[in-house]
Amino acid sequence: MSNPSIKLSIIGSGYVGLVTGACFAEVGHQVVCVDNDPRKLDALRAGKIPIYEPGLEDLVHRNVAAGRLRFTGDIGEAVENSQVVFIAVPTPPQPDGSVDLSFIEQVAREIAGVLKDYRVIVDKSTVPVKTGEKVADTIRRYNKHGADFDVVSNPEFLREGCAVGDLMNPDRIVIGASGERAVGLMQKIYEPFKAPVLVTDINSAELIKHAANSFLALKISYINAVAAVCEASGADVEMVADGIGMDRRIGRNFLNAGIGYGGSCFPKDIAAFIAICDDLGVPFDLLKEVQRINRDVRARFVKKVREALWVLRDKKIAVWGLTFKPDTDDVRSSVAIDVVNDLLGEGAKVRVYDPKGAEKAREFKLIEGADFASSPLDAAKDAEALIIATEWEEFRNVDLGAVKAAMHTPLVFDGRNLFDPGTMEQMGFRYTGVGRTS
Ligand code: UDX
Repeated sequence: MSNPSIKLSIIGSGYVGLVTGACFAEVGHQVVCVDNDPRKLDALRAGKIPIYEPGLEDLVHRNVAAGRLRFTGDIGEAVENSQVVFIAVPTPPQPDGSVDLSFIEQVAREIAGVLKDYRVIVDKSTVPVKTGEKVADTIRRYNKHGADFDVVSNPEFLREGCAVGDLMNPDRIVIGASGERAVGLMQKIYEPFKAPVLVTDINSAELIKHAANSFLALKISYINAVAAVCEASGADVEMVADGIGMDRRIGRNFLNAGIGYGGSCFPKDIAAFIAICDDLGVPFDLLKEVQRINRDVRARFVKKVREALWVLRDKKIAVWGLTFKPDTDDVRSSVAIDVVNDLLGEGAKVRVYDPKGAEKAREFKLIEGADFASSPLDAAKDAEALIIATEWEEFRNVDLGAVKAAMHTPLVFDGRNLFDPGTMEQMGFRYTGVGRTS
């Protein structure tokens, strides 16, 4: 028997909204994605996807063609024609780390302005605990019809680069709700995904998102701190991580040492969680240490380059990788970008290559003064050192003999432990990884 199709609207056709809308359509629901940017809507209607995410373009095209996915700028029409309304608008950080909730508040008021009959309003954006209560309060205050509704928190755990896969095969689905009617509808929406569902109260669901991301960042900072101990003692962090990770209570995932975590989620979510906890009067200092370690690993890495090259001014340095991780074109809050700027700041001549991130780095002027190369080999030409800042698969398959021949001096600083130290030394490179001995 086919699954029941539910009419859904997604307000905010950004990263989370678009991927979520496309995946809901894929499993058979009727989805309308709303956005207030007419240019974005035109592009989407013309089949152009504003972000690079493997599998997304096909998914959008297929579901638009099947009549299950469409785009509109009219929030009233979208709310009128859907049983469940998802909010997926940005929640950007403010200078003090706390979350700017003005987009959420505005959408809540807009929904209130058009709400006539019962709807489930679902918050998918990452928000501080107790936001659901405020959304419900706002809708109640601004709705003239006194319409019935439920607010649900349904946090999103997708990772960039594998967002479609994460959404189609999630580890778990968290539904934070207060009424059975809303829970029933949410369960129907997620039935086709065949994933474990955890039903909680709204506050707990909101907290799960921040607590989960903070824990993952903590794991990364933990292994990066262990990497420093490995360097000081002659141990190998990859072996240590394997040994720790084989304990099923710990697991090997997110124990990859490197130059630290970046991206549009972890740095922002950890800062937000710290601010939320401060606000609640329960300071979470452990997370401040997580941030400190993350800053420290990058400084330690650049120091190694400085120690080998002595003065960085006018040194030709090749950097492979700009995105905050592979398989994305996202260069926001990327540690790779920070490393390039550290080097530029000391007067180095930096030549960068990234398979997908160069365009955005150039467009947003994130690394002014750096040269853009057309290939990994092109970047390495005449370089006095090569830095690997993002672990793209493409780099694994580069002809390293040609790279060595092209470089002025074969010094490699591998910020993502992409290569095996022994093999690199055998090939004649002077190789430095993170937390590794050769
Ligand atoms: C993350 C969460 O994984 C996801 O559940 C949440 O919804 C959004 O934030 P994302 O930011 O897309 O997803 O990327 P992720 O794969 O988690 O990597 C984040 C950063 O951590 C990257 O900079 C990556 O290089 C770094 N990282 C990750 C490490 O340095 N070591 C690791 O072992 C894992």
